[in-house]
Amino acid sequence: MLYLCGMLVVKNIKKLIQIETSPRPLVKGEAMDILPSLDNAYLLVEDGKFKDFGPMEQCPEIPDSEVIDASNRMVLPSWCDSHTHLVYAGSRDGEFVDRIKGLSYQEIANRGGGILNSAKRLQATPEDVLLEQARKRLDEVIRFGTGAIEMKSGYGLTLESEMKILRVIRQLKSETAATVKSTFLGAHSVPAAYRANRKAYVDLVVNEMLPRVADEQLADYIDVFCEKVAFSVDETIRIMEAGAKYGLKPKIHTNQFNCMGGIQASVEHGAISVDHLEVLNQEEIDCLKGSDTMPCLLPSAPFFINDHYPPAREIIDGGLPVALATDYNPGTTPSGRMSFVLSLACIKMKMTPNEAINAATINGARAMELESSHGSIAKGKVANFFITKEIPSLAYIPYSFGSDLVESVFLQGKCV
Ligand code: NIG
Ligand code: FE
Repeated sequence: MLYLCGMLVVKNIKKLIQIETSPRPLVKGEAMDILPSLDNAYLLVEDGKFKDFGPMEQCPEIPDSEVIDASNRMVLPSWCDSHTHLVYAGSRDGEFVDRIKGLSYQEIANRGGGILNSAKRLQATPEDVLLEQARKRLDEVIRFGTGAIEMKSGYGLTLESEMKILRVIRQLKSETAATVKSTFLGAHSVPAAYRANRKAYVDLVVNEMLPRVADEQLADYIDVFCEKVAFSVDETIRIMEAGAKYGLKPKIHTNQFNCMGGIQASVEHGAISVDHLEVLNQEEIDCLKGSDTMPCLLPSAPFFINDHYPPAREIIDGGLPVALATDYNPGTTPSGRMSFVLSLACIKMKMTPNEAINAATINGARAMELESSHGSIAKGKVANFFITKEIPSLAYIPYSFGSDLVESVFLQGKCV
């Protein structure tokens, strides 16, 4: 019998999900429906990393270890939420009511609501208040099972306010046990004062915001909202190329409402991911096939604004990978609950539970370049995982869409 010390042992796990002996960078096509799992398993954690796992009959005796009995419960790697706008001020429930009464999301945006409404609030919100609001949201999504998360700026739209958001993200990064990636999205919307001179705003993003962001090392990625209601493909290209000079790879909002070449431009510029894809044509699917760019789908957004869902089946059946993320933001997704995203993926996009879990773990990690340390239960990876409540099957997770099935959460091997 092997004896080890100072470890956490999770025993009698009904099903240990998303295990890997030789970690894969991502899963795509038919492989997305395969989810490597082990019934009646144990899991060992040491120094914040996964140490080992195996069938219960081979579970080692470990003196002085902390033991958790997970009978009737499953263990999953934490969700990897690769697209959020978690740092925002207040809410937009007024626009929610306007939409119920008949206005569309794009009509509200064209009237100066939408992102500009959130920007006005954020500009008037002191940094400590913004931090407090964002911290509460982060604590909540961690309780929902998220262990790695990307956060964007984009509700500042002035040099100082964009910096304010990115500093809040940096602060959250430094204090949380979750893994945080930061994205500069100065080009989220053209502020009203620049409507007659859009170029001046892109100049501001490229010549003033970006150098400061890079100088203070506040961002891991650069994003642009490439859409008729926001920035053109040419503007997007200019911003991606400017970001590249500072080593910032793109993760691009595109194809939420229009197919206008955003995917082709993003792929050409080596984007880590293209996000939204509610509208997507065959040419764009073919373009993605020849690339390493991850298609990232955000089904809570069309759910909330009553739009149509991305064609996940066409993407996966075309042999591509898919990542799922929340898009947590005040306008289209005031929710950071990954399990609800999984339910929508299954119910509205016909993804299988296995595909949805792969999309929310290993492929989500890939969409943040965290695939070698997150997204699965593998020796040496960061021990971010959660134990479910008693559940009958894996499919029960997306099936029970309103329930909270996370019983306990572990980040870097510690219960939070
Ligand atoms: O990803 N589409 C652009 N940005 C956000 C929503 C912005 C807002 O309405 O506040 C999104 O859905
Ligand atoms: Fe978004």
